Amino acid sequence: VPDHVCVLIDEAYCEFNTLDDPDTTLDLLPQHPNLILLRTFSKVYGLAGLRVGFALCGSAEPVDAVDRVRQPFFCSAPAQAAAIEALRHQDAVAERVERAVTARVEVADGLERLSLRVAESQANFCWVTLPAAAGEDPAAAEQRVADGLRERGVLVRAGTALGRAGCLRVTYGTPGENERFLAAMAELLAVAPA
Ligand SMILES: Cc1ncc(COP(=O)(O)O)c(C=O)c1O
Repeated sequence: VPDHVCVLIDEAYCEFNTLDDPDTTLDLLPQHPNLILLRTFSKVYGLAGLRVGFALCGSAEPVDAVDRVRQPFFCSAPAQAAAIEALRHQDAVAERVERAVTARVEVADGLERLSLRVAESQANFCWVTLPAAAGEDPAAAEQRVADGLRERGVLVRAGTALGRAGCLRVTYGTPGENERFLAAMAELLAVAPA
């Protein structure tokens, strides 16, 4: 990548990564003035409604460029105060990561028991490939299962809108919600498509 092109790395879920140090990329910043790491308070910090995040930049140039075009008061004072306070509660962050890791294992195990293929996740959600019935279009299979889940009070993101038909993106919930999701999946997979 030429030096005049910015490279943005979206690290929205980096805190959930338990395989690598989520801060490894920080070491790249001094060597790459065109690198920008984007982080958010919407995920592990649970402050999505406050619309607050930050960027770590390899040089002052992108900061200056954004400062020239951004709206004044683009991030409210309460959002900034909440974000600063949230950073002080790393024990709560660690707890949330632990809960996500437990859910990751339980949901993946549950889906695999239903013979479904689950992509390895280091985030707070998983990506599951659905079986299509003979002659059924993957997008139709996805819609059928997503609709069935909705009827059972479970909301997931359907894969077509995210670029891969026939899959679901499932954010982990509480242990009870995860169980309810798995039970609903078992029920839906047992029923032949109409
Ligand atoms: C991959 C990814 N990046 C970034 C975000 C942005 O989070 P926010 O705009 O709430 O800071 C999201 C939120 O859904 C996400 O899934």
